[in-house]
Amino acid sequence: MLFVWKTKVKLLFKIHLICGARPNFMKIAPLYHILKKEQWCQVFIIHTGQHYDLMMSDVFLSNLGLPKPDFHFLKCNKSHAEQTGNIMIAYEKLCLKDRPDLVVVVGDVNSTIACSIAAKKLQLKVAHLEAGLRSYDRSMPEEINRVITDVIADILWTPSEDADQNLIKEGIAIEKIQRVGNIMIDTYCMLESKINIIDTWKKFNLVKGQYIVCTFHRPVNVDFRNRLHKIITVLNNIGLPCVFPMHPRTYKNFIKLTNCKNDNIIVTKPLSYIEFMNLLKNCKFIITDSGGIQEESTYLKIPCYTLRTSTERPITINIGSNTLVTMENLEEKITYFKKSEIPKLWDGKTAVRITKLLKDKFS
Ligand code: UD1
Repeated sequence: MLFVWKTKVKLLFKIHLICGARPNFMKIAPLYHILKKEQWCQVFIIHTGQHYDLMMSDVFLSNLGLPKPDFHFLKCNKSHAEQTGNIMIAYEKLCLKDRPDLVVVVGDVNSTIACSIAAKKLQLKVAHLEAGLRSYDRSMPEEINRVITDVIADILWTPSEDADQNLIKEGIAIEKIQRVGNIMIDTYCMLESKINIIDTWKKFNLVKGQYIVCTFHRPVNVDFRNRLHKIITVLNNIGLPCVFPMHPRTYKNFIKLTNCKNDNIIVTKPLSYIEFMNLLKNCKFIITDSGGIQEESTYLKIPCYTLRTSTERPITINIGSNTLVTMENLEEKITYFKKSEIPKLWDGKTAVRITKLLKDKFS
């Protein structure tokens, strides 16, 4: 007689972590490392190919201790619609084969919205990390990505109370909102010991605390030659050396500028996360149009001047570490000293809180 033993195979809860652009890698890393240790789930990294340069992508994966992505789509440097569409098509195919139980999207880039839409149309569960941020400026592609992702996601992980309020005002059901804190601070805390032991400023022959860091990549600031020319001129006139790790989008236009005095400006390729954070924590102040740097500077208590008319991170303004500036008033706004405190739940434990919430619900 033949006996057939029936063993019950318990399938593990399958989580896809979506990343595609530079700021995404930082946001998935702390969550990946914690989820990876859990017995009840399997975690997969999906790289959408939105960013593809070594210094915009691979170097971040290695800095953050992330393995080669489990799935990597082809690079796509086309228009917004083509980029979003191509990522949607590729991710839909993957979801049909792989059927994740939960898709985690982060931030506000085109990969975030593309994968959210593809997953939701297949009725998969989507969680949005860094939900609820709003600049209320719909001319920013990121704002459109934020609003749409939040409307369709099932779980909204927010960094601060203002984000909860934004979602509630938009009619999002309160039970979907979970305030977990700021994941970018987890990333910093995770790598702080490595950040502290290098001296990036030495590489540029600078004196600690006596230089500025600037970053610009928003289309509104860098896509028009006159505007970029004006920005470079103002930075050059501040009177302190200014390190400018240049995003490829900015560099493409920067090299076309002629007759633009820039002898106080050190232009460099994008830096790795560890090098950049070391440069940031030792500078005098920061001038930027980035979102994440407004938060990192708040945590590091370094004054930040943001060359934008709005911010989706108003908490950094209220707390006093960040100031919105224009080209015209930048010089008068620079005070070198700002009062600042660290917002609640920006404590390096966001990934732990998320993992606990997921475990309680799904394990
Ligand atoms: C994207 C995000 C932005 C984020 C930024 C961080 C959207 C809508 N925007 O903007 O929110 O703050 O990333 O970096 O998703 N390029 C390269 N090499 C690369 C990547 C891009 O040369 O590795 C070029 C592209 O070909 C394109 C330009 O840079 O011409 C813009 O890239 P794209 O990914 O569309 O958006 P970002 O400006 O990087």
